[in-house]
Amino acid sequence: MINVGKIKSTIETELVGKEIRYFQMLSSTNTVAKDYAGKRAKDGTVVVAEIQTQGRGRLNRPWISPKGGVWLSVILRTKLAAEEAPKITLIASVAVARTLHRLWNLKSEVKWPNDVLIGGKKICGILTEASIAGKHVNAIIVGIGINANFDLEDLPYDLWKSTTTLKEVIGKHVNREELICVLLKEFEECFELFKERKIGRLLDEWREMACFLGKRIEVKSFRENWAGKAIDIDESGALIVELDNGERKRVLSGDVTVREI
Ligand code: BTN
Repeated sequence: MINVGKIKSTIETELVGKEIRYFQMLSSTNTVAKDYAGKRAKDGTVVVAEIQTQGRGRLNRPWISPKGGVWLSVILRTKLAAEEAPKITLIASVAVARTLHRLWNLKSEVKWPNDVLIGGKKICGILTEASIAGKHVNAIIVGIGINANFDLEDLPYDLWKSTTTLKEVIGKHVNREELICVLLKEFEECFELFKERKIGRLLDEWREMACFLGKRIEVKSFRENWAGKAIDIDESGALIVELDNGERKRVLSGDVTVREI
């Protein structure tokens, strides 16, 4: 079990995680966080769960969330437009990568838009959503799922090849309280840079980890598929792809598959 008391007594953040709502089991920390956001939860409140029964991934996919993982959502009350959400996802992935490096000297890769990988396998997914009240963004919910202390056998077989866990990479259980404290601290620091409009440094850090940039990729989005070369991400977090006819496309959402190693 995650010891929330231990997190509260050691966390070094100013705001993020000062208020923690802990559940042994819930549907999805993002769904519950949205609900709290509608009920005036404090800025920086974090919802954490041991198990999610309806964890959600991007593009309406399920996110299987067994016991032993780190499944959490941060409620951000800073005034942000919904279009800023992709940038927050990039910021969160830099925070995750910094955390894995700081705690276990691990070298992460990132795959646009929201995956953190170790050794080419997914270890973390991020789902940033806007909580809307009427016509306004009431809060931004940043959902972070880290595959920590479980075995691949706890996931469906079709995920085994593409997924890894910290337990598998490090060879033992990790301290999840320490992981959460460092993650929330790193996230808060990265988010501060964003608020001060100093996101350039974070984007450069993200680019350094972006194993697919410069490679041939396929992008599958809701309606269309493209093939081309991954060129860069722009200031808004969109992916720039150069199609075979030389045209440059700005992609806002979709799935990337690397075709050239
Ligand atoms: C993805 O890679 O598709 C995104 C996965 C995001 C999973 C996290 S786990 C905590 C939070 N609650 C959810 O239901 N989803 C996010």
